[in-house]
Amino acid sequence: MTKQIVLGAFEEFTPNFISNAWHHPKAHTKDFATLRYWQDLARELEAGGFDFLFLAEALGYPMSGDEVPEVVVREAVQVPAHDPMTLVSGLAATVDRLGFVVTASTTSQQPYLNARTYTSLDHLTEGRIAWNIVTSDNQVALTRLLGLNSVTPHDERYRRATEFVELNLELWEGAWEDDAVVYDKATRTYADPAKVHRIRHDGEYFRYDGFFPAIPSPQRTPLLLQAGTSSAGRAFAARFAECVFIQDRDPAVAARVVADLRARAVDNGRDADAIKVIDAVSVIVGDTEEEALALRADLDATPSMEAAAALYMGWSGVDLLQFPLDATLAEVKTEVGQSMLSLFQDGEKSPTIREILQRITTSIGGPRITGTPESVADQLQEFVERSDVDGFLIEYTYGGIATYRDIIDKVFPLLRERGMLPDTPRSGTMRERIVGGGPRLPRTHPGARYRRD
Ligand SMILES: Cc1cc2nc3c(=O)[nH]c(=O)nc-3n(C[C@H](O)[C@H](O)[C@H](O)COP(=O)(O)O)c2cc1C
Repeated sequence: MTKQIVLGAFEEFTPNFISNAWHHPKAHTKDFATLRYWQDLARELEAGGFDFLFLAEALGYPMSGDEVPEVVVREAVQVPAHDPMTLVSGLAATVDRLGFVVTASTTSQQPYLNARTYTSLDHLTEGRIAWNIVTSDNQVALTRLLGLNSVTPHDERYRRATEFVELNLELWEGAWEDDAVVYDKATRTYADPAKVHRIRHDGEYFRYDGFFPAIPSPQRTPLLLQAGTSSAGRAFAARFAECVFIQDRDPAVAARVVADLRARAVDNGRDADAIKVIDAVSVIVGDTEEEALALRADLDATPSMEAAAALYMGWSGVDLLQFPLDATLAEVKTEVGQSMLSLFQDGEKSPTIREILQRITTSIGGPRITGTPESVADQLQEFVERSDVDGFLIEYTYGGIATYRDIIDKVFPLLRERGMLPDTPRSGTMRERIVGGGPRLPRTHPGARYRRD
């Protein structure tokens, strides 16, 4: 019996995303800036049985040195990209079961403001919020937009992120005791001052001294996700993440990442299954194998190579177009996205630039699954059985509901028949539906040590 999986929709507040196919006839993303566009999508995802909508964040855009490829603006490669946080409460008011994973960056944000935003959204969504913790891709442009002098080295970004998250955990778990809010009109006591604690933090990157002016929310700490499987990224994930997003096409490679993350969790005093792993996957369904392959080929023929290379440059920090097509990336280094680069580093067997450009068209690193509904369900099932991942992020292909329509109508029923999806879609807080257990952080998570009661 294949285990039950969780499913998320992989989106960004932009008219164009992973596939660079916004101009495909099936794509209708012109109204991406309207709430109505996202309300319609959220209703379809909720009715279809998705567990959550993931809203990625792009604070920067592809840039190398002082150059921004012209294709970035012309073909909308991460420009425009609006603020995903602004969408959540409107969508939470529109659908009452779907969960929301939203990216926020430890490079651009301030710990106090970040903690208050997620606590506010945890209340407004009744616990249906999760934080995808990133140090941010598109570092070159981001550094300029934030007025920073230079790109912070990769591993140092994770050290800074570690202190950032520790401070957030202390605010969420340690600032207010569970019964601090008394709301007693007779004694004009809103909260018991003895149970609301001043937090003092004086670290290498951040300082904090004061109360946390946000009352405890259903999960207190939003479900914590992370997306970055470099060595520093895995060490960070093993300490904090309850769920990790990966982009591995080969089930054997994914299986090694899953096993390594779980072993590292145990090294951090956590349970092996304390970390769920979700792989990003690009899915194309057709009524016949021929039709599906034709749809895939048609989609792959849609984006320009320049757009695909620009997106990859923003995510990895590597400009593929500056290399000869027969060269490889075997010896290349990056301070931006190391796991994005290592996708194409395999010593002597490393793919050439020409091969990489073919592979990243419409989907960067995750599995590309194409076929009839039956065959797609088979491929997803086999991938789970061989890799032990806990679920999938269905990647943006055509944009909007066009990405998900056939998957919801034709593949989900088969996954339910096979027991891979629950008959009744999951509800409750994000932690309960993705990790299981209660709404609060498990006692084995380092954040629990800040609790007073
Ligand atoms: C599925 C997935 C989603 C991601 N979402 C974001 C995002 O929303 N914003 C962002 O800046 N980076 C995002 N990233 C990139 C990661 O944050 C990170 O830069 C990248 O995985 C490289 O990390 P590493 O250098 O630790 O390997 C995502 C990566 C993956 C695999």
